[in-house]
Amino acid sequence: MGKDVIIACDFDSAEKTFAFLDKFTGRKPFVKIGMELYYAEGPSIVREIKKRGHKIFLDLKLHDIPNTVKKSMAVLSRLDVDMTNLHAAGTCRMMEAAIEGLTRPDGTRPMLIAVTQLTSTDQESMEKDLWIEKPIAEVVMHYAHNAKVAGLDGVVCSPLEAGKVHDTCGKDFVTVTPGVRFADGDIGDQKRVMTPAQAKEIGSDYIVVGRPITAAEDPVAAYERCVKEFCD
Ligand code: C5P
Repeated sequence: MGKDVIIACDFDSAEKTFAFLDKFTGRKPFVKIGMELYYAEGPSIVREIKKRGHKIFLDLKLHDIPNTVKKSMAVLSRLDVDMTNLHAAGTCRMMEAAIEGLTRPDGTRPMLIAVTQLTSTDQESMEKDLWIEKPIAEVVMHYAHNAKVAGLDGVVCSPLEAGKVHDTCGKDFVTVTPGVRFADGDIGDQKRVMTPAQAKEIGSDYIVVGRPITAAEDPVAAYERCVKEFCD
């Protein structure tokens, strides 16, 4: 499994995104396009970033009836993204339909990973709002297991859960982990954080890093520091 650092391009316009990406004149980072940028600019932003030579994780977290997800995934697959995602809460049938939609006529497809429980959901809100009464750690592992059974490649999870996910679903089941901060950096609004070196140690396959790179005085140096700590 190729370890890599994915930069969360949480910008609200193509202009800001390109001003940021223009700084990377050497190695072209793997980038994450989330809802904010995608809804601002539409599919053209994906094509343009791809044309510049970046790998793309399109983070749109699909969750709908299986037929709708299948057809939407077919459209995303034609955009030639490298990785995309959905909510495991949409059921195994929805995840299987997503794989079908994503698979191209030649049998290839982008990587598909599942969101288990969002890290913004805690035990209390899960019980009170969703009426799920099991311990949240068990729910996360159950959803990860469902994703594996449905044929997905991995899950988005906190770096603290990555080791357990590998124990439950196997070491080839990919873990993509946000919530990464430098030891000497600002935590911001993230609660449970790890350094890139700790995320490597615990077995994360990909780290998703936003503000520690996008808001750094020298984003390229911050990115290279992440790569050095996580990949080397
Ligand atoms: O700026 P920061 O490094 O906190 O950005 C992390 C990125 O990962 C953001 O795009 C955020 O939406 C995303 N993310 C997260 N926690 C999750 C899932 C996604 O922080 N559980």
